[in-house]
Amino acid sequence: MRNDNHVIWHKARVTRSDRERLNGHRSGVLWFTGLSGSGKSTIAHAVEEILHRKGVRTYVFDGDNVRHGLCRDLSFSPEGRAENLRRIGEMVKLFLDAGLLCFAAFISPMKGDRERVRKIIGPDDFFEVFVDCPLEVCESRDVKGLYKLAREGKIKDYTGISAPYERPEAPDLVIESHRHSLDECVDQVLRFIYSKGLVKE
Ligand code: ADX
Repeated sequence: MRNDNHVIWHKARVTRSDRERLNGHRSGVLWFTGLSGSGKSTIAHAVEEILHRKGVRTYVFDGDNVRHGLCRDLSFSPEGRAENLRRIGEMVKLFLDAGLLCFAAFISPMKGDRERVRKIIGPDDFFEVFVDCPLEVCESRDVKGLYKLAREGKIKDYTGISAPYERPEAPDLVIESHRHSLDECVDQVLRFIYSKGLVKE
């Protein structure tokens, strides 16, 4: 495979299936989308901890962290968010090749951007998890104090306040984080992972 810059793909001798066999589980990504403060990262990290203890090779990609490094040059404009998610999508794809079960916690507010990530990763390995929590609840939690700043006009393009969030139409899993305890949400995600055969129960 050659690209426009005459760069030719080097085929690895150790394949993804080899790594999955070694690990004893499949790789794939659960892509958590939802408003800031909906619980995406909290749930993803809690699920990861349980699976890690079971010997599953995992990694959590988190919007706030990735925007400190790989994506620190990107804004929250529509273009900045699209590029943020494209980069993460490409990075997650490499981690899937490395045989890991990945969790991505990004607001990823636009349907088109999420669909592009699904295409990058491939539909068999991408599972969209909608953390559905009303704006009023996220705003009342205001864990980082950013909703307050957004209401005061001190942060522009804030998702839910001055920038849109497009609800997923057909997510693979919906977690209503305001109706359930953290343990219950974690349990729902774990059951989903087992039901898809990503990890044996
Ligand atoms: S995304 O829209 O590109 O998917 P991402 O998940 O990486 O967003 O980053 C969201 C985090 O950045 C939020 O949890 C919040 O802490 C912080 N943030 C700072 N400015 C904004 C903004 N304008 N809109 C949304 N989140 C913001």
